[in-house]
Amino acid sequence: MDIGLSGCESETSTVRARLEPMMDGRRRWRYRSVREDAPRVKPPPVPDPPAVLVTGGAGYVAGPLLSRLIDRGLRVIVLDNLIQGHTDTLPPEVELWTASAGDQGVLEEILGRGDVSAVFHFAGDSSVEASVKDPVTTYRHNVAEGLRLIETVARDHAHVPFILSSTAAVYGAASSAAIPEDAPVTPQSPYGETKRVLEAALRWVGEARGLRWAALRYFNAAGAEGPLRERHQPETHLIPNLLNAARSGSAVTVFGTDYPTADGTAVRDYVHISDLADGHLLALDHLGRAGPSGAFNLGSGRGHSVQEVVHAVSEVTGRVLRVTPGPRRPGDPPALVADIRRARALLGYEPRHSDITTIIETAWQAMSL
Ligand SMILES: NC(=O)c1ccc[n+]([C@@H]2O[C@H](COP(=O)([O-])OP(=O)(O)OC[C@H]3O[C@@H](n4cnc5c(N)ncnc54)[C@H](O)[C@@H]3O)[C@@H](O)[C@H]2O)c1
Repeated sequence: MDIGLSGCESETSTVRARLEPMMDGRRRWRYRSVREDAPRVKPPPVPDPPAVLVTGGAGYVAGPLLSRLIDRGLRVIVLDNLIQGHTDTLPPEVELWTASAGDQGVLEEILGRGDVSAVFHFAGDSSVEASVKDPVTTYRHNVAEGLRLIETVARDHAHVPFILSSTAAVYGAASSAAIPEDAPVTPQSPYGETKRVLEAALRWVGEARGLRWAALRYFNAAGAEGPLRERHQPETHLIPNLLNAARSGSAVTVFGTDYPTADGTAVRDYVHISDLADGHLLALDHLGRAGPSGAFNLGSGRGHSVQEVVHAVSEVTGRVLRVTPGPRRPGDPPALVADIRRARALLGYEPRHSDITTIIETAWQAMSL
């Protein structure tokens, strides 16, 4: 593309600046001087790299995946209504569409270009507490919008693999033993139920239309990668709330001290967002080599009680935390720990950053960036 920058004359030719695509597969351009009298050999057209659609890409868990996709030479399209997301940490290469994940017109425009090679569906409400208080809103955002996305993909783009952000909340009241994917799916909250519905829709659409899909059941996403950290409004997750309390000196409530666990507080499996991002790439590769569709637990495979996490936060931050006991929150089961053997065997998933100290250290450091 000749952009007609002012040229400079030489004795034999005019030298002009021209914008040309770089050959490294990225969507960047460089200026190049060209001699007007040089023979005009038309370079072969550089095809656009394949694109990936990431709904909810401005959110916490999606963040570390974006740079990994860009590093693979993929063009990343983020579709996010920015209800929760943050644009200040989006890589500059990302193409951002500010709209809801179920906006059919926008979806048809993005998918209609024909170059989207995968869909990652992160967008949605993720608060158990909010879903208990206002189930209809969570259903509307997660189920209604999610189904419109699935419908649009399945109708004309069923060859495009679909990767859903699902959750351990689909398991409901599990035992304290590590939970495999074939454990009963009996969600205890509207939030968990909305993800169960989307998983089931993907399964049936897979059977009807051949859609390849993976539902990645994250356990408790935690930690930070560089500046990418948890910034939900309101924040309901334990680790950022403890770190905020450590910084401000305010008290923090522990919800439930009478659970049937070793110390009475709820046990959760905390998984670092870097491990989750790697898990997404592994799922994409798995579907790309025609591996079986299905649900995969992504966790650390280890459980920590709330009390243990409080202790670990005190150790890392060197601050004394003021903790007050509170009642259990509705929809919160006593223990959720992942059995990650299926993800290990089929995807090659291996959590490398998910020890609780690394999680807390990275999250604490990110707060001061
Ligand atoms: N954070 C966790 O511990 C956790 C655990 C299990 C599952 N998940 C799931 O992972 C996904 C991402 O979670 P997160 O913690 O990053 O949440 P987040 O709120 O940080 O990110 C969600 C993003 O989606 C956007 N969004 C929400 N509804 C939308 C809609 N209808 N259309 C378009 N954009 C929309 C928000 O603006 C935000 O940028 C969610 O689907 C959540 O249910 C999260």
